[in-house]
Formats: sequence, structure tokens, C-alpha cells
Amino acid sequence: MDIYTTIAAWRAARADWTAAEGIGCVPTMGYLHAGHLSLVHLARAQNRRVVVSIFVNPLQFGPAEDFAAYPRDTPRDLALLEAAGVDAVFMPSPAEMYPPGFATSVTLHGPLVERLEGARRPGHFAGVATVVTKLCTIMQPTQVYFGQKDAQQVAVVRRFVADLNLPVQIVVGSIMREPDGLALSSRNVYLAPAQRQAALVLHRALATARAALANGEQDAEAIRATMRAVVASEPLATLDYADVVDPATFAPLVVVQPPALLALVAQVGPPHLLDNYLWRADGTWDVGETAPATE
Ligand code: PAF
Repeated sequence: MDIYTTIAAWRAARADWTAAEGIGCVPTMGYLHAGHLSLVHLARAQNRRVVVSIFVNPLQFGPAEDFAAYPRDTPRDLALLEAAGVDAVFMPSPAEMYPPGFATSVTLHGPLVERLEGARRPGHFAGVATVVTKLCTIMQPTQVYFGQKDAQQVAVVRRFVADLNLPVQIVVGSIMREPDGLALSSRNVYLAPAQRQAALVLHRALATARAALANGEQDAEAIRATMRAVVASEPLATLDYADVVDPATFAPLVVVQPPALLALVAQVGPPHLLDNYLWRADGTWDVGETAPATE
């Protein structure tokens, strides 16, 4: 596995790879867990070449957010990626990505970036769009892999990739869960044991909402109220939002029919935890998968 820290060195290596071989790229901020690795395995199965980027992107953290404290463990990440059969890792410094004078931002407009995570984290999606656009132009992959846990990020990426005609295909992997249902996240490391237990309320709220839909409830406001009530039953959890939206535009639904996304964010201890269930257009559900025990 080759490691590149500069854009010039990566480009020189990339020149030997032809797009026809299939080049899968998994962008990450490191501190890898089984959710990331499931994307790496998917990329490995679908491409001749796999490259992973590790870059904690300062542009997508707000002033009050945890950029400096964001968990990092590069030696462990590299060992996991080597074991997963990755061909190359691109891990630039912030100065390499954003040199003095850097003055460009990829900014979307409208409800997709203004609602939910966009309202909770102003500027976040411009930071994501800017870095992902740069990663796509630097790395020139044919396929780029994202996790469904960040469902609004997925919708935002699909939007600007289409709008800017970036020549990449977006592939989305399911949420990976602990056996008890907790969605894997690098931020779970901040949970004390009691908070870790309390965090299960997110999955419970989503499952309760799904059961209500299966019983014929179609009123989106009733589904939101169901999720809110379950989260309110857990004293250690504070709800940020519980919503039912169109998974592509993030417009709130009035009547819930597929495609629909049940989106939930709650603060449990320090971290704000995200979780969601996707009711696909074909009527099937993506509620995530239990991560393999070995990862
Ligand atoms: O999902 C993430 O880890 C980040 O938002 C991403 C896509 C790597 C961009 O920094």
C-alpha cells in the first residue's frame, strides 16, 4: 500500500492508472470503524484500484465544533487499510489542501443545505462540497463511496456532482450497526457507558416509527411525534430533530410514502448522534446492517 501526502506525488502515481480499470475512492476523516471498512470492501469488490483519503477537513467544522479534538489514530487506520487490500492512501496536510490564498468555496443553495444538518451546522455542507470537489478533481476516481448514515451529505454530494458534471459515480453503503443497533460513528468514542446505553434510543425511535408506518400510519406529523416521544423517554438524550423527508431534496413530507427518509439527530453526552432509516422508492427498507464482529 502506497501513501501519498502531496497532490503532486499522488498525481504522478495516478498517471499510471487508467480509468477503464475502475478506480474506487473512499473519502474519510480517519479514525476508521467498520462502517468505513464496509465502504472499502465494497470499493475493493467493484474496482481494480482502491484509494482511501484520510483528511480531517477544517472547512466543515464550525467555530464551536470539535476540529482539534476530532479523534485521530493514523497508525491504526493505515494498518486497517493495508489489511483491507487498499492500493493507496492519500493523506494531505491542511496546508496542502488549502494553501495561503485559497479563496474558493463550493456552495449549494436552498432547503437541501439549509434544513436539518444545514441549520444545525451552518457552513458545514459548503465545507464538505468544497473538499469532496477537490478530492474528486485531485484523485480522479471513477466511483466515490459514502455512508448512508450521513444521509443529507449523500443528497448534497449527489446534487453538486450532478450540477458540476463531475465524472464520478456515487455509491452509497448502508449504515453499519453494533449488534444492539447503535449506528457506528467515530464520535461514539466520546460516549461514557451510561450514555452509550442511552444512545440506543435513536435506533428504538426509528424502529417504532417504521412499525407505525407498517401499521398504516401515513401522516408525517404523527411519525415525527412518535420519534420525538421515544427520544423524550430517555433522560440522557436531547433531541435535535426528528423528521420525515424526501431523501433527495430533504423537503419535509406531509404524507409518508416511499421514497422517504426517517432522519433523527440527538445529543447524548458530548456528541450529536445521527441515525436514519431509508424507505426506498421500491418499498424496501435500508435500516442498516450489523457490522461484522471482527472489525
Ligand atoms: O463523511 C466524512 O467523513 C466527510 O464529510 C468527508 C466525506 C470525508 C469529507 O470530509
